[in-house]
Amino acid sequence: MPRDVRRILDLGTGDGRLLALLQIDRPRMFGVGLDASELMLEAARERFTTNERIDLVKHDLAEPLPALGRFDAVVSSMAIHHLEHERKRTLYGEVFDLLEPGGLFANFEHVASPTERLHLAFFAAIDEPLENEDPSDRLLDVETQLGWLRARGYDDVDCYWKWLEMALLVGVKPPDVT
Ligand SMILES: C[S@@+](CC[C@H](N)C(=O)[O-])C[C@H]1O[C@@H](n2cnc3c(N)ncnc32)[C@H](O)[C@@H]1O
Repeated sequence: MPRDVRRILDLGTGDGRLLALLQIDRPRMFGVGLDASELMLEAARERFTTNERIDLVKHDLAEPLPALGRFDAVVSSMAIHHLEHERKRTLYGEVFDLLEPGGLFANFEHVASPTERLHLAFFAAIDEPLENEDPSDRLLDVETQLGWLRARGYDDVDCYWKWLEMALLVGVKPPDVT
């Protein structure tokens, strides 16, 4: 994430952990965190209680994004995999529309394993019994998601980091697209 980004939107911000991390190196940035959970938003409000550079908005990502202006970057961590696949796809399009030209979308995500054996290996690797799998997970493979980003017009689309079912999916809005 470039150091000079001014406005960052965090989808499924939870208690604001990611925005707080981004602010360490970017003290002049403004952040907006969206989340549907009042409990998580309350924790985020507590974290940012004296921080006037962060706005928190209650919003269900299953619904179209609200009008929040344009952003230099949109980030998300471990949240979008809760949405139905078709909503993931349309959300990636909405993110493209609210990015400034040259803006960056970085989605750190729980993705689907290509095989059941690798899915079991992931749960073994994190030392978690399979019974604890979150029933609200809607895991989707990396290739499909990268394909959607490319089809929407993002540049430099790739999986920038991956370990088993954790992946960082990135796309950049071309600088000449408004
Ligand atoms: C695993 S937490 C991650 C929180 C934070 N991004 C982080 O990395 O610490 C997932 C977050 O996504 C939020 N979330 C899940 N489904 C959502 C939805 N449909 N709309 C908005 N937020 C959602 C949850 O409320 C929760 O705060």
